[in-house]
Amino acid sequence: MRIAAPIEIGPLDADDQQAVRDLAKAAEAHDGVAPLSEQPLLNLSTDAEWITHVVAHTKAGSTIGYVQIDRSGETASTELVIHPEHRRNGHGRMLLKTAERDATLPSRSGEPGQHGKSLRVWAHGDLESARGFARAAGLRAVRELLFLARPTTPTRPTTPAGPPSGAPAETPELPEAPVGYRLRTFRPGADDAAWLRVNARAFATHPEQGRMTLDDLRARQSEQWFDPEGFFLLFPDGTPAGADGADPAAFLWTKTEPDQPDDARDGEIYVVGVDPDHQGKGLGRLMTAVGLAHLARTGATRAVLYVEGDNAPALATYERAGFTRVAVHVQYARP
Ligand SMILES: CC(C)(COP(=O)(O)OP(=O)(O)OC[C@H]1O[C@@H](n2cnc3c(N)ncnc32)[C@H](O)[C@@H]1OP(=O)(O)O)[C@@H](O)C(=O)NCCC(=O)NCCS
Repeated sequence: MRIAAPIEIGPLDADDQQAVRDLAKAAEAHDGVAPLSEQPLLNLSTDAEWITHVVAHTKAGSTIGYVQIDRSGETASTELVIHPEHRRNGHGRMLLKTAERDATLPSRSGEPGQHGKSLRVWAHGDLESARGFARAAGLRAVRELLFLARPTTPTRPTTPAGPPSGAPAETPELPEAPVGYRLRTFRPGADDAAWLRVNARAFATHPEQGRMTLDDLRARQSEQWFDPEGFFLLFPDGTPAGADGADPAAFLWTKTEPDQPDDARDGEIYVVGVDPDHQGKGLGRLMTAVGLAHLARTGATRAVLYVEGDNAPALATYERAGFTRVAVHVQYARP
């Protein structure tokens, strides 16, 4: 029998937010992949015109489904999860319909935050259930985000006299800045505006990264994982860097979640960007090497990163640097 779940639309109080986090954890334990990504998790406490939270409950009040609709971009981005014990009861279909109504309602202004947007739904991990669900809903895959990984510590080749295969080599030094540039770490506050400018220029065509605002940056700076020592800026030489000087030519930001076991620590190459005026000079490769060396020095055993499936140059760079594909995230839309 299909059971219609009561739904609640509106801002989430602290208990609701925790219930959604618990729901996401239960789904992750079942599916092997987290159903909600970083931005939607950060958005749980957001009460704003451009965001809608919809929670489905059982009659007894437990949270069994959640969908978030973020209308701050050109399209409305959605993440949706149903508790593993309550699937195949039509709850997913009902939340998707609610999300689609929320996104596509006609808007007079068409401004960000308003409605009248087409809906994009993320499915993390490309699960069979998500594929079947999307197919049944008439949605089609329109974008792929790849998750790549490689060990951070290079291993020594086996030689008769040398240490056994798999033994770690020495911790790598950070690569030097090339001639004409200098490298330093990020100074929170003082570097915020300059970094936002170079990020917007480097990711002008990227639907999410290029739109990062000061609030988005500050939200990340107050996360437990944030470490300015793992956030590198490369400045052109000869001009003062920072608030009144030149913007960075390139940057690399790493992210390592706390509380990971020592023998299985993931360190993320979180964002690498090169200003268009400085592209084509190998700065992307250099900054990736800086990130890898930093992650190895801080004890990460694996370097991980996300890249757009259709970004052939970036994919080629990362594959040359030893990264391989471990997961794919798919975005669906109505044709
Ligand atoms: C995908 C998900 C949201 C579906 O939620 P749900 O409440 O189980 O979905 P519904 O009961 O509304 O299913 C609607 C239809 O989708 C299809 N479907 C759903 N789950 C499916 C599965 N595991 N395999 C094949 N088809 C499936 C079916 O056609 C189903 O209709 P039916 O039950 O009458 O056959 C849920 O499995 C989930 O939370 N997965 C993890 C998060 C995720 O991947 N979200 C992104 C979704 S694009």
